[in-house]
Amino acid sequence: MSTPRWELHIRPMFNLQDWDHMRSRFDFSDVNAVWASRHAILDRLRSDDPMPPRPEGGPWPREWVDLFDRWIVAGETEFGGQPPRLTIGQGTGYNLAAGFGKWRLTATVSVPSPDSKAWLHLVAFSPAVQTLTMFIEAPANPAGPASDRPLLAMINASPALQEVVVINANGETRLPRPGAGT
Ligand code: HEM
Repeated sequence: MSTPRWELHIRPMFNLQDWDHMRSRFDFSDVNAVWASRHAILDRLRSDDPMPPRPEGGPWPREWVDLFDRWIVAGETEFGGQPPRLTIGQGTGYNLAAGFGKWRLTATVSVPSPDSKAWLHLVAFSPAVQTLTMFIEAPANPAGPASDRPLLAMINASPALQEVVVINANGETRLPRPGAGT
């Protein structure tokens, strides 16, 4: 069974309503803020007066609470007291090419160990812009050696799409519509 990770499994359990109503007390969008208050949050999720409140979409299903608990235990036992999460990769050699109704986005990413996973994950979408994050899922103690790994993402390119943005360790890399400006 995989370890729950903040970006994939924990952050999506907190919705905009939760963020907004609790922002004076916790920032549920911030992994470090949630980690710092993890035990208070877990206690409240499990209390007789659980959060989120009943008329506001709560309480969470038991499986969600157990998942939050499992994330805490994994961080405290396997990840050296740090929240299990993904990291953002250092990418090079970006290329965006058109073909067969899709665009091929390719890049190279450095991974810390052979058993690390890396991929380009769609995180925001509008008709004109698609944004992907270069994620790395590394084990608790990557044993090395680090190496470069090729990445490929197929982009569903509608006629309105103008740009693909890749969030990576260097910030944002903006790739214009293939053929634009040439
Ligand atoms: C997963 C979602 C949520 C979690 C984990 C959560 C957690 C908590 C926790 C731990 C406290 C106690 C704070 C303290 O002791 O300082 C609290 C208080 C409070 N929360 Fe939330 N909350 C959530 C969502 C919401 C939502 C959607 C509302 C909307 C009304 C809300 C309203 C309040 C209010 C009014 C208090 C202060 C009164 C009280 O402690 O009962 N919360 N929440």
